[in-house]
Amino acid sequence: MSFFENTRKPVGLGGKIMVTMMNSGHGAMADWGFDHITIAENACILDAGCGGGANIKKLLAMAPKGQVKGIDYSEVSVEKSRKVNAKAIAAGRCEVLQASVAELLFAENSFNLVTAFETIYFWPGLVDCFREVYRVMKPGGIFFICNESNGETNKDDKWVEKIGGMTIYNGDQIEEMLQKAGFTDIQIHKNEKDWICVIAAVDR
Ligand SMILES: C[S@@+](CC[C@H](N)C(=O)[O-])C[C@H]1O[C@@H](n2cnc3c(N)ncnc32)[C@H](O)[C@@H]1O
Repeated sequence: MSFFENTRKPVGLGGKIMVTMMNSGHGAMADWGFDHITIAENACILDAGCGGGANIKKLLAMAPKGQVKGIDYSEVSVEKSRKVNAKAIAAGRCEVLQASVAELLFAENSFNLVTAFETIYFWPGLVDCFREVYRVMKPGGIFFICNESNGETNKDDKWVEKIGGMTIYNGDQIEEMLQKAGFTDIQIHKNEKDWICVIAAVDR
């Protein structure tokens, strides 16, 4: 297994190194993405595929009276996220669970915001996973996807070759799958670094 496979599912020592690297390496992209959404101070938020938990920490700061949960199917990611957010967990404002996005452990209508940074590349049966996200979201909620690869450049091929099980989607593909899952009012933003973020609303 190559070191880069740890982006799909961090395991062992390589995984521990990878989650630390992702926490700093994805920071600029996450900050660019966050500039496109408004987060209520009391929002209930889920970070799906939370990796090392750096974005959970940012979300806790952006919603100081809210609750933030994280899920990831990697034990290494969950352990690191819990460590990074230990104070908020002790204060009862944060919880990190080991689970797949294919079967979220939460009740319907639980979240105002669900975020997914650098992770949908690896989700199995994307439309069904998006349906699962839709199910746990409150009416009026926002699903926010943010990726460093927008599916439109040759750079993408390099990553897909290096990392088994990775699919890089372009904006049109993501939009179509979100619509199939029930989301509406889909907005797509891109920048000169080929980053992409997608905002999708729950209107039911
Ligand atoms: C490239 S990392 C990104 C982590 C973090 N969101 C960030 O931006 O730094 C992808 C993460 O998604 C998780 N992941 C991939 N597929 C998943 C699935 N089906 N269910 C839950 N987590 C998943 C991986 O374990 C990994 O921690």
